[in-house]
Amino acid sequence: MLLAPSILAADFARLESHAREAIEAGGDWLHVDVMDGHFVPEITMGALVARALRPLCTETGTVLDVHLMTEHPERHVESFAKAGADVITVHIEACEDASRTLALIRSRGVRPGITLCPDTPLQALDGVLAEAGLILVMSVVPGRGGQKYIPASTERIRRLRKRLDAMGSEAYIEVDGGVKAHNAGQIVRAGADVLVAGSAVFRGNVARNVAAIRAALHT
Ligand code: DX5
Ligand code: ZN
Repeated sequence: MLLAPSILAADFARLESHAREAIEAGGDWLHVDVMDGHFVPEITMGALVARALRPLCTETGTVLDVHLMTEHPERHVESFAKAGADVITVHIEACEDASRTLALIRSRGVRPGITLCPDTPLQALDGVLAEAGLILVMSVVPGRGGQKYIPASTERIRRLRKRLDAMGSEAYIEVDGGVKAHNAGQIVRAGADVLVAGSAVFRGNVARNVAAIRAALHT
């Protein structure tokens, strides 16, 4: 299992050192939540922040994982690729032509991810599963951190895992929203490869939080 601390819950006044703490504690990826005030109500951060974190990721061998919660995601691919993103994930609900957007991301040497809101049926991904390098299952309604995991997500992960295995796909399944030590085990057993965790990592003692999530996987 790979752990992707979401910096949305980090202290922005000391972003680099807080992110470093999460990596040193055992975070494998850094998850960057980009909100545009249109696709979701909040505005968070843009490519400048991703670029500022690139040296830390390079130094520590950490994957820079960008989650675009924006309208017209294809318009932002270039700037996040230039900023050094390793993964760019876009919402199926926001794409005019998701296949084209994934191809654009791939053409920039970046792993293309596709995601969907909890209310969007998995079938919405049918046409693009083969082209995605990562499928992000949203387990909360996107828009803010610190929400409760939606229990039906576990069954969606299981179904998606079956589907990808049947296709012989090597795409990662990433899960985002409300991931905590108490539910990490069931999420991984359902078939997730990458767990995003914001508040569960950054609220309180980071090293202890990461250890608790990892320990929960062995129970
Ligand atoms: C929600 C974001 C998540 C968020 C997760 O829209 O996509 O990545 O940071 O935060 P927690 O882990 O606190 O639910
Ligand atoms: Zn996210």
